[in-house]
Amino acid sequence: MSNIRLDKYICEQFNTTRKEAKEFIKRNKIEINGVFTKDPDFKFDKEIDSVMINGEDIVAKEERTYILLNKPSGYICANYDAKNRTVFELLPGEYKNFQCVGRLDIDTEGLLLITNDGDFNHRVTSPRHHVDKTYYAKLIKPISGEDIDSVAKGGILYSKDEKPSLPGILKPGEDECSAYITIHEGKFHQVKKMFYALGNEVTYLKRVSFGSITLPDDLKAGSYVLLPENEVLNL
Ligand code: URA
Repeated sequence: MSNIRLDKYICEQFNTTRKEAKEFIKRNKIEINGVFTKDPDFKFDKEIDSVMINGEDIVAKEERTYILLNKPSGYICANYDAKNRTVFELLPGEYKNFQCVGRLDIDTEGLLLITNDGDFNHRVTSPRHHVDKTYYAKLIKPISGEDIDSVAKGGILYSKDEKPSLPGILKPGEDECSAYITIHEGKFHQVKKMFYALGNEVTYLKRVSFGSITLPDDLKAGSYVLLPENEVLNL
């Protein structure tokens, strides 16, 4: 038996907050074993019971799909949003119940993985599983040798409520005021907050790699490719 509450299940499947999950349950037609429910506390066995969302079976595990989207600025990483455009609007409707693997800010561009493989998503976004993520950043001023050392050492305090940064890698970019930063964590606004803590500011941010997966140079913003399973599973 692996009983789970409906709101927790939605959080896991779609990588949402509890509040977003409750909103999702209100807005969508969720059927558990053929019975519609709007109750976030509804408990069921996720291994056995059938869950349909808007008439679709969301856990067809045999067909795992991994999408690499070059996210443009102006789109949020969520399945629905009352105000903003979502990354799912850039994909065919058949992927609308998939989940973003981690999140990029609305104004961040670049490599975003989207999948229907919830286990993979939890594995690679779990704080214990440090997948390297590299970002290209444009900054208001050049980075210094001290900045490179601080990032390499770790321990940058960028928020009073969060643990200091783990060691990362900072390298100069092609222009004077740009840099590549590789981090192993994925906290909210982390790169922007790290540069801010170093007395700098990010004016443009693009993720260029996630583990061994890199953003193809010829993939236009707003376009996507499907990745073969073996390319993602050894992340
Ligand atoms: N760090 C940020 O500050 N923003 C992102 O979108 C990703 C990492």
